Amino acid sequence: MSAKLVVGAQWGDEGKAKVIDFLSGEINLIVRYQGGANAGHTVLVGDQKYIFHLIPSGILYPKTICVIGNGVVLDPVAFITEVDDLMSRNIDAMERLVLSDACHLILPMHQMIDAHRETAAGGKKIGTTKRGIGICYADKMMRVGLRVGDLLSHRLRERLEHIVEAKNRELKNLYNLPEVKIDPLFEDLSKFAQKIKGIVKNTSLYLNGELARGKTVLLEGAQGTGLDIDYGTYPYVTSSNTTTGGAIAGSGISFQYLKEVIGISKAYTTRVGEGPFPTELHGEEEERLRKLGSEFGATTGRPRRVGWFDVELIRHASRVNGLTGIALTKIDVLSSYDQIKIGAGYKLKGEKIDAFPSTGLEDVEVIYETMPGWKTDISKARKLSDLPPACRTYVDRLVELTEVPIKLISVGAGREETIVL
Ligand code: IMP
Ligand code: MG
Repeated sequence: MSAKLVVGAQWGDEGKAKVIDFLSGEINLIVRYQGGANAGHTVLVGDQKYIFHLIPSGILYPKTICVIGNGVVLDPVAFITEVDDLMSRNIDAMERLVLSDACHLILPMHQMIDAHRETAAGGKKIGTTKRGIGICYADKMMRVGLRVGDLLSHRLRERLEHIVEAKNRELKNLYNLPEVKIDPLFEDLSKFAQKIKGIVKNTSLYLNGELARGKTVLLEGAQGTGLDIDYGTYPYVTSSNTTTGGAIAGSGISFQYLKEVIGISKAYTTRVGEGPFPTELHGEEEERLRKLGSEFGATTGRPRRVGWFDVELIRHASRVNGLTGIALTKIDVLSSYDQIKIGAGYKLKGEKIDAFPSTGLEDVEVIYETMPGWKTDISKARKLSDLPPACRTYVDRLVELTEVPIKLISVGAGREETIVL
C-alpha cells in the first residue's frame, strides 16, 4: 500500500541497519536498491551480532521478504557466503529472498581492476572498499555488463564470451593484469545460476504488484548522501545514487507509493575513505570519539574518520532526499563530554554560505556552536522525558538548525535502546 525509505544522511555508517531492523516488524517487504557488498550493516539481536553486506537486514524477521533490486551490483561469492552464514544460523534466507533479473553481476575482473586502480592512484586514491563496485557500474554504463537474467538464458556463453573478450583487452593493454579464463568463469556462473534460479524475478513488476495488493515496503539505502555519485563529494563518492532518486530507479517502485523518507544521522559524523570532511577531528579528540563510538568499518575494518555533527550536510540531505524525518543514532556515545560542538554552518572566504557546495567543500570554514554535555548514562532512556535536559537541548538545537523533525533517537545498539517520538 505504501513504501518507506531509509536513507543515509551523512557519509554512510549512520546506523541504518539498526533503524531498519527496528522498523522491520511492521513491514512485508524490504528492498536494497543500490550499491553492493561494499556496504556493512551491523545488527545486534540479544547477544547475536549479524553483519550484512548485500542481503537486507530485515531477513532477521521471520516473515519479511527481502528483495535485491535492479540497482544493486551483485557479487555472487559474497551473496552465497552471506546466505550460507544465515542458513547455518537457522535463518531460512533462500525462502524469503527475491533477486532482480536486471541486477548487474560483479565479476572477478571488477575487483581486480578496482584494487589495481586504487593502488596505482597512490595519493589520489578514492579509498574504495575494493569490492569492484565502481568498475561494475562503469561496465553497466558501457553496456558490457552481465545481468542476473543472462545467467538463466541459453545465450549466457555467447554473452560472457563477448564480455570477457572486451575486459581481457582492458586487463592486458590498460592495466597489465592477467587475463580472465572463460571456462572456469562460465562454470562458476552456471553453478551460481542453479542456486538462484528459483528466486529470480522481474522485481519492479513484483513490487508494484505487492504494493497494489496492500503490502508495505521498506526501501533500504546503503552508504549515504555524502557518497552519492551526483550529490556527494565527487570524486570521493561511491558509484551509485544512494539518495531518493536512486531508490526509485533501483527498485522500479512507482514514486507515488513513497510516503515517508527517513534520513539516518549519527549525533556526530563519520566517514571512511578519502575526501573532504569539514567537521573532522584530529589527534587526541579524534582518538577519543573513535574509541567511544567504536568507529571501525564493518566491511574493511578501517578506522573511521570522526567529527562533530554537520548541519549543512544534513540540510543538503534533507533537500536532496525530501526527508520527512530524521532518526538520530549513537547519541549515547556523546554522554561523557563536558561540551559538545555542532558544525552549525559554513563560511567560504569569510562569507557565510547557505549550502553544501558541489565542489570545493575542502575550502569551507566551519562555524561552531558549543553546547553543554549531559554527563549521564542515557542508554536506559525509552522516552524523550527520560533524557537529561542538556541532552534534550542538544536534540532541540539540531532540529532547529536542520529544520527536519527527529522521529527516532537511538541510545544504544540493541533493538530496545530506542526512543520513538
Ligand atoms: P566503493 O563504494 O567501494 O567504490 O568506495 C567508494 C567510497 O565509498 C569510499 O570512500 C568508501 O569508503 C565509501 N563507502 C562505500 N561503501 C561504504 C559504506 O557502506 N559505508 C561507508 N562508506 C562506504
Ligand atoms: Mg556500514
